Amino acid sequence: MAVVPHVKTWWKSAVIYQIYPASFCDSNGDGVGDIAGITSKLDYIASLGVDAIWISPVYDSPQVDMGYDISNYEAIYPPYGTVHSMKDLIKETHARGMRIMMDLVINHTSDQHAWFKDARSSRSSPKRDWYIWRPAKYSSNGDRLPPNNWRCSFGGGSAWEWDESTQEYYLHLWAKEQPDLNWDNEDARKAIYASAMAFWLDLGVDGFRVDTVNMYSKPNDFPDAPVADPAAPFQPAAMLYCNGPRMHEFIGEMNSILAQYGAITVGELLDTADVADILPYVSAEARQLDMIFQFDAVEVGWGRTHKYETTPKNFTLPQFKEAIGKAQNLIMGTDAWTTVFLENHDLSRSVSRLADDRPEFREAGAKMLALLQACLSGTQYIYQGQEIGAINASKEAYPLENYLDISSRLFMEMIKERYGASNKKELDRGFNALQHLARDHSRIPMAWNGTAKYGGFSEEAEQAGVDVKQPWMKPHPLAHEINVATQINDANSVLGWWRKMLQFRKQHEGVLVYGDYYCLGMDDPDTYSFIKQTQDGKGKMLVVLNFAPKEKPWSVPGSEMPMVDVGSSHTPKLTLTTYEGRGGSENLAPFEGRVYTMAVDSRQSNL
Ligand code: GLC
Ligand code: CA
Repeated sequence: MAVVPHVKTWWKSAVIYQIYPASFCDSNGDGVGDIAGITSKLDYIASLGVDAIWISPVYDSPQVDMGYDISNYEAIYPPYGTVHSMKDLIKETHARGMRIMMDLVINHTSDQHAWFKDARSSRSSPKRDWYIWRPAKYSSNGDRLPPNNWRCSFGGGSAWEWDESTQEYYLHLWAKEQPDLNWDNEDARKAIYASAMAFWLDLGVDGFRVDTVNMYSKPNDFPDAPVADPAAPFQPAAMLYCNGPRMHEFIGEMNSILAQYGAITVGELLDTADVADILPYVSAEARQLDMIFQFDAVEVGWGRTHKYETTPKNFTLPQFKEAIGKAQNLIMGTDAWTTVFLENHDLSRSVSRLADDRPEFREAGAKMLALLQACLSGTQYIYQGQEIGAINASKEAYPLENYLDISSRLFMEMIKERYGASNKKELDRGFNALQHLARDHSRIPMAWNGTAKYGGFSEEAEQAGVDVKQPWMKPHPLAHEINVATQINDANSVLGWWRKMLQFRKQHEGVLVYGDYYCLGMDDPDTYSFIKQTQDGKGKMLVVLNFAPKEKPWSVPGSEMPMVDVGSSHTPKLTLTTYEGRGGSENLAPFEGRVYTMAVDSRQSNL
């Protein structure tokens, strides 16, 4: 494969920390996180080694989908603050040498957005065509039916909602309160660029995480989706509504505006498995997006017909390796760039999903996963709470009524409709899936201090004498054990380990951020090992991770390693282990991670 040298830029070696505003820090004690709370934690964030923050939506919204349903792009949801608080956050972030990205949610708006209210007011509204309307279909016995069989992304319902007053259906790929914008309408596009993008870029925002970036262009004939689940009334249709005919034209147009500001972008590229479909979004030459999130690795174990139609840990380690390898290989021999992430606000906690959250293993698992991420190429993303090794809330301590996310609630409704509201076995199966995969886990308020009320979520207000309210979501049952205060001064904590790993990554960016990746022993069901090497081939590291809750025999590989010309005088040297004091030739401890260095030529290597 020809070597295409990666052009080095700040955002490629950056560590980007994602903040979920409702659950990060509550400055005034009303139980809801807010922008002033984020500002108050900027020193903490900077101290981790973070270069930029991405904040999930803070715009005005009825919060049907926690702010991903925007009713006004140019205003802030009042409990979070005001445009003025955002200006302050932008200024304070920059003052600490960090950048700030906002969430750009422009596939759809809220049904409470003035544009949609106008569009739905009559068929002749000038904004009618800013959304997607279609007439009903009728069955042979005269029943009204939606235009096609597409299922929306939450629960099991249709992607079309009937509008009684104007007698047409509108499309909503997500909740019915999130009508899809019609990107084929040029006026709508111009309004989106001005209101959602330029408004904030003018205020100094440095870039955007672009929500559902591949869904703007729909196939206008709206064909039925293939039947994947014969018992279900509506069918998954992502293969039809993702990567539609005009997608690259639209993103190119968007980018011509973003480029004027030098804004950076990372696109959420859902349901796109094929590299040939991915590259046009993120190859440097295509000038579309700087980075994209690929979801193969975080979606291992998901159900085939529905994310939650599965059982816990329904995947093998080789499947996970293959998925990671896909994102790593994207940049080998291409001018594209990749990202590294295991968590975000749509995923449950990685320790619970990928390692083991039992008390005796959870810290080891968190450190091992931190090591894995720090050693993979691409821009590094961390989600709030990941740095303290947060885990999913258990079934016993966090009952189903604590789950507030629309996708959890609509999934349980779907189960009830399908199997009956008193079918205990199916309801329990549903709860098991949610306990393992629900989005709620990452949205539980951040635990700052185990001795303060509600895990210290509103600590400053409490100290100022405010009678602080219970947080909007029940605090984590383990907030007294897993929190920032107990870890912040402990170099051996998960937090201490993350800091160390992020530094290590930066010191060795040639191999860890920009390097080539080669997986070893793909089929090994318990151990994950790979080589990273600088693009010039001179610096090499070997990473070994034990994903099993038991010791694993291990011997340092020699010159028989594929692709690696270590030479006899360059035996891999143990550089790091997640287990203090463990020797380089010892067996691997449960969930141990190690890095060995094997520079081929230590004088020349830029390891
Ligand atoms: C993205 C967001 C998710 C949201 C959805 C609809 O997937 O990450 O939280 O529900 O878009 O906007
Ligand atoms: Ca608040």
